[in-house]
Amino acid sequence: MNQNHIPPTVHRTYGADDLSQAASFAGGFINFGDWRGIDLTAPTPEDRVRSQEQLYRRVLREFPEPREQLRLAEVGCGRGLGAALALREFRFAAVTGVDIHPDQIERARAVNARALATYPDRLAYTLGAADELPFPEGSLDGIYSVEAAQHFRELTSFADETARVLRPGGRLVVTTFFTSTGQDVAERLSILLGSFADGLDVAHPVDGFTADLTKVGFTTVAAESIGADVWPGLDRYLENAVPSDHWSRNFLTAWRDGLLDYYVVTAERA
Ligand SMILES: C[S@@+](CC[C@H](N)C(=O)[O-])C[C@H]1O[C@@H](n2cnc3c(N)ncnc32)[C@H](O)[C@@H]1O
Repeated sequence: MNQNHIPPTVHRTYGADDLSQAASFAGGFINFGDWRGIDLTAPTPEDRVRSQEQLYRRVLREFPEPREQLRLAEVGCGRGLGAALALREFRFAAVTGVDIHPDQIERARAVNARALATYPDRLAYTLGAADELPFPEGSLDGIYSVEAAQHFRELTSFADETARVLRPGGRLVVTTFFTSTGQDVAERLSILLGSFADGLDVAHPVDGFTADLTKVGFTTVAAESIGADVWPGLDRYLENAVPSDHWSRNFLTAWRDGLLDYYVVTAERA
């Protein structure tokens, strides 16, 4: 797959349907959020935005200080708010948001027009795919991705591409939901969750991804489960945002049943 071959469900979801406008999300971000420290008694749309920003901060803190020299790319940047946050709060040398969907790149440029004007040489949004990254070999110090890898058809070429464009010692940080390993896991997820049933999300076992990274030359590959900070908070928010029988409420069940979990995967390019 590359940017000329967007899977139909991905094309629709981030094109005409514009998932960022769904009641499950808020503020233009499209991720399930890190809910640590947020009062779950009656979470508001402002809390929802905070959860999504906190997920970005959790990922970005994985790039060690000093950060001022680091040139980064985000794969699957959506509306680009996370890339702008990265530059504003973490003071990286440069951040380029990459997305496979032309509508998302257009939205990212419009939504972040002020940030683009403030950092003309340091912030950019560009079309590109996880398996065909628009960067020369060894040109980046870091790559991160927030809740996008579940859409990639397979992760071997993503691992290959990140290894190609990172310099030796460069760091990769990927957060999203990955599955457990087991024969019927994908089938059970398709029954529980509409996004797996319609092909928007792909069941990627976390062990397979970490093995791919090791195979292409990453070292210190680690997968940290952060599900306890994601699923209960998300479900509490969904309780008021979607009908009680909406399939998205089954993410909590899928996590409790051990079918999937939310991870932060980190790795260093040898
Ligand atoms: C759930 S959204 C996350 C957006 C953003 N990271 C956030 O947290 O707000 C996933 C994004 O990944 C993009 N995407 C899907 N498949 C991709 C691929 N193969 N390569 C690059 N981007 C992809 C989609 O177009 C979408 O904008």
